[in-house]
Amino acid sequence: MLSEDSHGNSSTSAATLTNEQFPGIDLGGIHIDTPVMLSPMAGVTNWPFRVLCEEFGPNGLYVAEMITARALVAKNPKAFRLCRFAPSEHPRSLQLYGVNPEITRQAAAMVVDGNMADHVDLNFGCPAPKVTRHGGGSALPWKLDVFAELIRRVISVCEPAGVPVTAKIRVGIDHEHETFLEAGRIAQEEGCAAVTLHARTTAEYYGGHADWNRIGELAQELSIPVFGNGDIWTAEDALAMMYQTGCAGVAIGRGCQGRPWLFADIANAFSGSSARVNPTLGQIGQIISKHARLLTDFYDGDEKMAVHDLRKHVAWYLKGFPVGGEVRRQFMECESVADVDAKVADFDQDTPFPMAIADQPRGRVRYARKVHLPYGWLDSRSLPAEEREQLFGDDPMDASY
Ligand SMILES: Cc1cc2nc3c(=O)[nH]c(=O)nc-3n(C[C@H](O)[C@H](O)[C@H](O)COP(=O)(O)O)c2cc1C
Repeated sequence: MLSEDSHGNSSTSAATLTNEQFPGIDLGGIHIDTPVMLSPMAGVTNWPFRVLCEEFGPNGLYVAEMITARALVAKNPKAFRLCRFAPSEHPRSLQLYGVNPEITRQAAAMVVDGNMADHVDLNFGCPAPKVTRHGGGSALPWKLDVFAELIRRVISVCEPAGVPVTAKIRVGIDHEHETFLEAGRIAQEEGCAAVTLHARTTAEYYGGHADWNRIGELAQELSIPVFGNGDIWTAEDALAMMYQTGCAGVAIGRGCQGRPWLFADIANAFSGSSARVNPTLGQIGQIISKHARLLTDFYDGDEKMAVHDLRKHVAWYLKGFPVGGEVRRQFMECESVADVDAKVADFDQDTPFPMAIADQPRGRVRYARKVHLPYGWLDSRSLPAEEREQLFGDDPMDASY
């Protein structure tokens, strides 16, 4: 029973959605009970946030934010901080970003040799100009030879150690230059354990709506699991994507910003339960205080850095609640965990969750102004040796979204 929603995506009606169970996913030797992934988000999915998500939905896959291979190989301390995991995290999942296959292999070898993670995801989805203008992220699958070589080299060090490798891709650079089917096939042939498809092109950035039909096409094409990604704001959206596309699992990005309990909702929905977490403002205050403490650990006791990092999360946590601009502004001025606790104590504890915004898009929602690519990038599907050297010398150390 499929119907068209306002996104032009068809979905299954609620009555037929709640009675099914979805099997877990095997990524090499790692079993994911609930086929849901926290999609890597730079500046968001550090271990404090992952721990909050995991506490709500203990059996998914929670991926760290992207780490630049060159920064790791150069032993950049910030890159190492991003590789940290909480003791409770199993499996430990991190994402590498690289353009140069050899440097990315070296970074993966560091991860494996240092027993730094149990799973490695490769970033071929970043649309940020500072990444794509160096041929990285979502620009890379266009160059089939470099794309395949990068995956091959990373797998050559991860596979012997039993560390599964997955790839995260977009639909393509734009609709004239789609890459996802070829990229998915190559990832599978090279030995990736799964592929995640964010169903937008680089040009679409975060604007408009993800085209879930593309997820369906890829799921049909590949025999390895496909995680569908894009515009899941509620557990019902997650169910609808599973039904509509036949994907093996879902990856959640902006939908869980300020809503780590979305993973509990999805676990419930996937096991046939209609139970949903809709916290009151008082309960959200407790989550904010806990988040502040976890971030303080993450920043080695530096409360100021912790509460500065917390600011964006607070804005997301309070989205839709009738909390005045003055209270929101005061949060932005907090300099310590005690400041945060004091603000939280002032909340009207029983204010109910604002259901009206529950399924509304949040976070980044704009289109790219222009796709930035290396000169002549689209002219051919391979990268000659002299162009490689030029490009790899430029790969930025501080790449992030
Ligand atoms: C703030 C932000 C940071 C992101 N950082 C990364 C990243 O480090 N690696 C990555 O593969 N994708 C990154 N993404 C993309 C998300 O993982 C996800 O693919 C995208 O947001 C679409 O999913 P959604 O509609 O559920 O948000 C980022 C997205 C946002 C909004």
